[in-house]
Amino acid sequence: MNMAIAGVATYALVAPSTTVARRIFLPGETTHGHYQIELACNQCHQTNGGNDESNASNVMQDACLRCHETDLDTANDTHPASKFNDPVHADLLKTLDAQSCLSCHREHVAERTLAMGLTIPRDYCWHCHQDVAESRVSHEGMRYDSCATTGCHNYHDNRALYEKYLDEHHGEADILDDATLILLTSQQNGDDQTQETQTQVVPDISDADPQIVRQWSSSAHFAAGVNCTQCHQPEAEDSLANHGTTTTAGFGTAWNDHVALDTCRQCHARQSETFLRGKHGMRLAVGLPEMQVAMARLPMRSDAAHRQLNCNSCHAAHVDDVQYAAVDACLGCHNDDHSLAYLDSSHAELWRQERSGDIDAGRGVTCATCHMPRVATGDDTFVNHNQNSVLRPVETMVRDVCQRCHGLEFSLNAVADPELAQTCFDRPPEQTVTSVEMAHEWFEQRRKRQQSRKRSGSR
Ligand code: HEC
Ligand code: HEC
Ligand code: HEC
Ligand code: HEC
Ligand code: HEC
Ligand code: HEC
Ligand code: HEC
Ligand code: HEC
Ligand code: HEC
Ligand code: HEC
Repeated sequence: MNMAIAGVATYALVAPSTTVARRIFLPGETTHGHYQIELACNQCHQTNGGNDESNASNVMQDACLRCHETDLDTANDTHPASKFNDPVHADLLKTLDAQSCLSCHREHVAERTLAMGLTIPRDYCWHCHQDVAESRVSHEGMRYDSCATTGCHNYHDNRALYEKYLDEHHGEADILDDATLILLTSQQNGDDQTQETQTQVVPDISDADPQIVRQWSSSAHFAAGVNCTQCHQPEAEDSLANHGTTTTAGFGTAWNDHVALDTCRQCHARQSETFLRGKHGMRLAVGLPEMQVAMARLPMRSDAAHRQLNCNSCHAAHVDDVQYAAVDACLGCHNDDHSLAYLDSSHAELWRQERSGDIDAGRGVTCATCHMPRVATGDDTFVNHNQNSVLRPVETMVRDVCQRCHGLEFSLNAVADPELAQTCFDRPPEQTVTSVEMAHEWFEQRRKRQQSRKRSGSR
C-alpha cells in the first residue's frame, strides 16, 4: 500500500502539471483543512527520494510537524509527544499511540472524519483519564465523550481553559471597563509622517495615469515615500536592499503591471508569512496557483467565483484602505449565515460608530478584529494575516480577542453556544459553561484547607 503512495509521490515529482492524473490517485475526499492542497501529494507523502516502506509514517509525521509544529508549540500543546517519553506516562501509549499524529488525524477518509480533521471516536480521552471521576467529585457522572465539549477541555490548546487561568479570571464583568483593542502602529503615530513627506514625493515614472497618481497620493504608501517602481519594478530600486530579503520577486528592470505577493513581502514580511499559513494563502505557500473562490467549500458570493486570493483581494491597488479591508472586502466573497449576520450585530454598530468618529479608535469590532487579531511585538504591532490561527478550536479566539473587552466567563459562554456563533453574536449568551465556577470552587476549597492547616499548625 505504501509502495503505491511512494510511487504516486515520485510520479508527482516528475510530472507536476498533470493535476487531473494526480486527482485519480486520491483514495478519498480530503479534509476541510487540507483539500486546497490535496494535489500537492508530496507535501505529505514525501519519501526523501527513497521508497523505503517502513519509513512512510515517520516521513508523514515529519511533514505534519513541518507545517504545524510552530503553532502547536505556541499553543503550549497539552499533549506533546515529549510528555509520553516520561516512563510514568509511556504505558498509556499501548492504548493509543498519542506520539503519532496519524493515530487521530488520517486523510482521505471522509466517512469517519469529524470536525478539525479528527478521525477517531470522541470518547478516546477516557482511555487515558479514567481516574478523573474518582479523583474529582465534581466530575462524577459526566459522559465519556463530554471532556472535549466546548468550554471544558481541548486536546492541544488549553490556554484559555487551564484551571488556574479560569480561577484567576473568575467573577469578571461581562464587558470590561477599558474595552479597547491594541492600536495599529499607524493609529499610534497619527498623521505626523503624512504631513512631512506630502510635498516632496512625485511619481518616479513619467507617463503615469493621473487617476492612479491621485489615488496613490492619498495612500499610506505615498505618505511613506513608496513610489511606483518600488512595486512595479522591484529590482530596479536600490532601497529594497535595506529590507534584507532574498526572494524571486524581481522581474528584472522591466515595468510590470502585475504586483506579486513576493514584492509586498519584501516590505511586509510578517503579514505575508502569516497570510501563507491560513486558508487564504495556503496554496501559494506550497507553490500551487492562488486559491480561487470557485474552489471553496464554504458558501461564497457567486459573482466572486472568478476572484483569487492574494494581498490585493482585500487591499485594492493604490488605495490600501485598512478600514475597507476589515469588513467590506470580506463580504465581497463570504456569503454564509454567520458572515451576513455580522452587519446586524451590536459589534457592527460599534464599528460604525468608530468609523464616524463617535467612539475612540480600537473600540469597534470588525471581521478582522476576531479573525485577524492585532499582535503587539515590543515597539510596534502588526496584523496576523492567518485567519485560521484563532478559528479552531473556538476557545483559541478567547484570549487573543474577546478578553480584550469581555470577562473570561462571558467569552467562554458566548463561544460555547454554536447558535450564537451562527448569528454572529447578536445577543448575550444564554448558556453557562460551568468550568469557571468549578475551578474557582476547587481552588477555594484548597485555599480553605491550607488556611485551616496553617491555623492548626501555628497552634
Ligand atoms: C495533507 C496531507 C496529505 C496530502 C496532501 C495527500 N495525502 Fe494521501 N494520505 C495522507 C494521510 C495522513 C494518509 C493516511 C496514512 C496512513 O493511514 O498511514 C494518506 C493515505 C494515502 C493513501 C493510502 C490510502 C489507504 O487506503 O490506505 C494513498 C494511496 C494516498 N494517500 C494518496 C494520495 C495522493 C495520490 C495524493 C495527491 C493527489 C495525496 N494522497 C495527498 C495525507 C495526505
Ligand atoms: C504543507 C503544509 C501542511 C502539511 C504537510 C500538513 N498540514 Fe495540516 N494544515 C495546513 C494548513 C495550511 C491548514 C489550514 C489552516 C489551519 O487550520 O490552521 C491545516 C489544517 C489542519 C488541521 C485542522 C483542520 C480543521 O478543519 O480545522 C489539522 C487537524 C491538521 N492540519 C493536521 C495535519 C496532520 C496530522 C498532518 C500530517 C498528516 C498535516 N496537517 C499536514 C498545512 C499543512
Ligand atoms: C490523541 C489524539 C490526537 C493526536 C495524537 C493528535 N491530535 Fe491534533 N487534534 C486532536 C483533537 C481532539 C483536535 C480538536 C481540537 C482540540 O481538542 O484541541 C485536534 C486538532 C488539531 C489541529 C487543529 C486545531 C489546532 O489546535 O490548531 C491541528 C493543526 C492538529 N490537531 C495537528 C496535530 C498534529 C500535527 C499532531 C501530531 C504532532 C496531532 N494533531 C496529534 C487530537 C489529536
Ligand atoms: C494517550 C493518553 C492520553 C489521551 C488519549 C488524552 N490524554 Fe490528556 N493527558 C495525558 C497525560 C499523560 C497527561 C499529563 C498528566 C500529568 O502531567 O500528570 C494529560 C494531561 C491532560 C490535562 C491536564 C493538563 C494540565 O497540564 O493541566 C488535561 C486537561 C487533559 N489531559 C485533557 C485531555 C482531553 C480532553 C483528552 C481528549 C480530547 C485527553 N486529555 C486525551 C494523556 C492522555
Ligand atoms: C504598494 C505597491 C504599489 C505602488 C506604490 C504602486 N502600485 Fe500600481 N499597482 C499595484 C498593484 C497591487 C496593482 C494591481 C496588480 C494586479 O492586479 O496584479 C497595480 C496596478 C497598476 C497598473 C495596472 C492597471 C491598473 O489600473 O490596475 C498600473 C498602470 C499601475 N499600477 C501604475 C502605478 C503608478 C503610475 C504608480 C505610481 C504613481 C503605482 N502604480 C504605484 C501596486 C502598486
Ligand atoms: C518598498 C516597500 C513596500 C512595498 C513593496 C509595499 N509596501 Fe505597503 N507599506 C510600506 C510602508 C513603508 C508602509 C507605511 C508604514 C506601515 O504601515 O508599515 C506601508 C503600508 C501598507 C499598508 C497599511 C496602510 C494603512 O492605511 O495603514 C498596507 C495595507 C500595505 N502597505 C499593503 C501593501 C501591499 C498589499 C503591497 C504589495 C502590493 C505593499 N504594501 C507593498 C512599504 C511597502
Ligand atoms: C482577507 C483580507 C486581507 C488580505 C488577503 C490581506 N490583508 Fe492586509 N489587512 C487586512 C485587514 C482587515 C487589515 C487591518 C486590520 C485591523 O484593522 O486590525 C490589514 C492590515 C494590513 C497592514 C497594516 C497593518 C499592519 O499589519 O501593520 C499591512 C501592511 C498589510 N495588511 C499587508 C498585507 C499584505 C502584504 C498582504 C498579502 C500577503 C495582505 N495584507 C493581505 C486584510 C487583508
Ligand atoms: C477574494 C475572496 C475572499 C475575501 C476578500 C476574503 N475571503 Fe475569507 N476565504 C475565502 C475563501 C475562498 C476561503 C476558503 C473557503 C473554503 O475552504 O471553503 C476563505 C476562508 C476564510 C476563513 C476560514 C474558514 C474555515 O472554515 O477554515 C475565514 C475565517 C475567513 N476566510 C475570513 C475572512 C475575513 C475575516 C475576510 C476579510 C478580512 C476574508 N475572509 C476575505 C475567500 C475570501
Ligand atoms: C465577535 C467575533 C466575530 C466576528 C465579528 C466575526 N466572526 Fe467569523 N467567526 C467567529 C467565530 C467564533 C467563528 C467559529 C465558529 C465555530 O466554528 O464555532 C467564526 C467562523 C467564521 C467562518 C467559518 C465558518 C464555517 O462555517 O466554517 C468564516 C468564514 C467567518 N467566521 C467569517 C467572518 C466574516 C466575513 C465576518 C465579518 C462579516 C466575521 N466572520 C465576523 C467570530 C467572529
Ligand atoms: C473591542 C472590544 C470587543 C471585542 C474584541 C469583542 N467584543 Fe463583544 N462586545 C463589545 C461591546 C462593547 C459589547 C456591548 C455592545 C452593546 O451592548 O452595544 C459587546 C457585545 C457582545 C455580545 C452581546 C451582543 C448583544 O447584542 O447583546 C456578545 C455575545 C459578544 N460581545 C461576544 C463577543 C465574543 C465571543 C468576542 C470574541 C470572539 C467578542 N465579543 C469580542 C466589545 C467587544
